[in-house]
Amino acid sequence: MIVGEKKVNHSLGSYSIYLSEDFKGLKERIENIPSVSNIIIFTERPIAQLYLKYLELELAGIKPSIHIVYLKGGEKNKHIDRVKKAYHQLIDIGADRKSLILAMGGGVVGDFSGFIASTYQRGIRFVQIPTTLLAAVDSSVGGKVAVNLNKGKNMVGTFHQPEMVFMPLFTLSTLPKKEWRCGIAEIAKHSLLAGGHMWEDFRNHSYSDMKYDSDILKKMILDSIEFKASIVNQDEKEGGVRQILNLGHTTAHAIESLTKYSKYSHGEAVAIGIITALILSVEIYKFPKELLKEIVTAMVKYDLPSKDSNKASEIFEHMKHDKKKDGNVLKFVLLQNIGDYKYGVPVEKKDIIQAIKTQVNLI
Ligand code: NAD
Ligand code: GLY
Repeated sequence: MIVGEKKVNHSLGSYSIYLSEDFKGLKERIENIPSVSNIIIFTERPIAQLYLKYLELELAGIKPSIHIVYLKGGEKNKHIDRVKKAYHQLIDIGADRKSLILAMGGGVVGDFSGFIASTYQRGIRFVQIPTTLLAAVDSSVGGKVAVNLNKGKNMVGTFHQPEMVFMPLFTLSTLPKKEWRCGIAEIAKHSLLAGGHMWEDFRNHSYSDMKYDSDILKKMILDSIEFKASIVNQDEKEGGVRQILNLGHTTAHAIESLTKYSKYSHGEAVAIGIITALILSVEIYKFPKELLKEIVTAMVKYDLPSKDSNKASEIFEHMKHDKKKDGNVLKFVLLQNIGDYKYGVPVEKKDIIQAIKTQVNLI
C-alpha cells in the first residue's frame, strides 16, 4: 500500500517518488510507462534472495518479458571496470531503446544501474527501487548516477532522471544497523539544512524510535525526501543551491580516504564531517555554541560519532582531493543557524586545522 508520494521536477519533466509499505502498486505504475519492450531487473544476489520473489509476485502477468542481471555488491564493484560486462549482458538479453531497467537495491545498485541506463544506447529508462534508508532519502532522489575509478569515487557519472522511485518500506526490516546509520546521517544533514519541524523531529527522536515506530520512520523519510526534492527542483545539476547537500562531506571523504574506507561507514564519516562544518560555522558565522552541543547530543541518540582521533594535518592533506575545491581553495557548506545555510564558503587551511583540533577535544 502506498503511504506517500512526492514529485521531483527536472528539465525534461517530472517523476514521482512513492513510499509504499510493500511492492503493491508498482505493477500498475510500470504499466503506465509507455511502450516498454522488456524489463531488466538489476540487483545484488543477497537482496534478490530476500526480495526478488515479492517483486516477481507483484509483476506477475505483466506484458513485457522480465530478465534479471545480478551485480556484485559493494563500493569496489560500483566501478568502471564492471560497466562493459553489464552492457554485454543487456545486448545478450536483447535490450533496446524501449527497455526499462528496474534497479532494486541500495545506492550502489542505484548509481551503477542508473549509469548503465544513462549510457546504454545513449540512454534508456529506469526505475529506482531503493532498499536501504540511504537510497530512499538520498541516492535515489535527484538523478545523479556514477561509477568509481581506482583514483576516486563517483569520478565518472551523468545526471539521468528515473521514470519513478518506488520505495518498499518493508525491506528496511532486514537492513543491518550500520546501514541504518548511513541513512540516518543523511537525514541528520537534511534536518540541519531544513531546520523547523525536521530538526525538531530529529532532535526529539532516536535510532530505536525510527526503527521500531513506523509512523515516525515514514514521516522522517518523507520529510527528508521532500527536502531533497525541493532542493534538486531548484537546481538539478548542482550549479548553485544543490551544493548544500554536501554539508559534512569534505571532511567525511577525507577521513574515509585517510582511514582507507575501513574504520568508518560513510554515514559515520558524514556525522563527523557535519560537526567539523559546525565548528567552522561557530568561528565564521557565530553559529550558536549551545546548538552545537545539542547536535552532538542528538548524534549520540542515533549512535553516530562526532569526532575522529586522527591528526588534523593528515585529515587536511586528504581534503586536497575534494571534487568541490576551487583551485587550491577548499569550499565548505556552513550554517549561520539551523536551517540557515551558506555554500561555497572558502575556508583557509589554518581555520580547518584549528576546527579539527577543537573537534578532538569536544565532550
Ligand atoms: P549499498 O548499496 O552498498 O548497500 C549497503 C549494503 O546493504 C549492501 O551490502 C547491500 O547488499 C545491503 N542491502 C541493501 N538493501 C538491503 C536490505 N533491504 N536488507 C539487507 N541488506 C540490504 O549502500 P548504500 O548506503 O545504500 O549506498 C551507498 C552508495 O550510494 C555509494 O556508492 C554512494 O556513492 C552512493 N550515493 C549516491 C548518491 C546520489 O545522489 N546518487 C547520494 C548518496 C550516496
Ligand atoms: N547527495 C548529494 C546530491 O545528490 O546532490
